[in-house]
Amino acid sequence: MDGNGRWAEQRGLPRLAGHEAGSKSIERCVQACLDTGVQYLTLYAFSSENWKRPALEVNGLMLLLENFLNQKRDEMVREGIRLHHIGRIHELPSVCQRKLREAMQATAANTKLHFTLALSYSGRTEILDAVQSLAREVAEGNLDPKAITSQVFESHLHTAGIPDPDLLIRTSGEMRISNFLLWQLSYTEIHVTKKYWPDFGRDDFLAALDDFQSRSRRFGGV
Ligand code: IPE
Ligand code: MG
Repeated sequence: MDGNGRWAEQRGLPRLAGHEAGSKSIERCVQACLDTGVQYLTLYAFSSENWKRPALEVNGLMLLLENFLNQKRDEMVREGIRLHHIGRIHELPSVCQRKLREAMQATAANTKLHFTLALSYSGRTEILDAVQSLAREVAEGNLDPKAITSQVFESHLHTAGIPDPDLLIRTSGEMRISNFLLWQLSYTEIHVTKKYWPDFGRDDFLAALDDFQSRSRRFGGV
């Protein structure tokens, strides 16, 4: 979800106004998933690297997260949306952790759309966390190193239980992965749009799905 800052700058507004406008794009994309039958949506909302931003911006983003969870919890319950998170949730302010846990609990029985927020997330850190937990099991004598298959490894990632993405949408025209789902994106189709995230609407989401459907996926075969 990139381009909030540039969107705001274009309009002579503070960066936080861009982030606020960006939350509306989330609503549009979630609705488009519900309407088209997309069952998994993962949003890169806040990266581990984003902590380096000025405190004013970080605090504003955390407040937006808190408000989003407050406002959307009941709607998620009603609409069949199940909330998940990936990332080092313990690094978030405790109020955000509590709201996240509450919303995840309240939506735990839902199955229509698995909606995952990546918060304080870094793909490399996720892999390191998995390696450490596997190494611990080996050291304790509970795991044979030869038994570490892709499946076992994936079960130690934050995304355990969530399938690898079919499609990655990157807004604001940037051509990089930026530490997102490094393991999981191996065979993901990539769609880049120049639109800034706050301008990304339903039609853009549908255009990305159309683009995806035109791809020929061979997974290394012929
Ligand atoms: C993405 O927009 C939102 C978050 C990282 C939370 P940016 O804030 O990165 O927007 P630009 O890149 O400055 O335009
Ligand atoms: Mg950016």
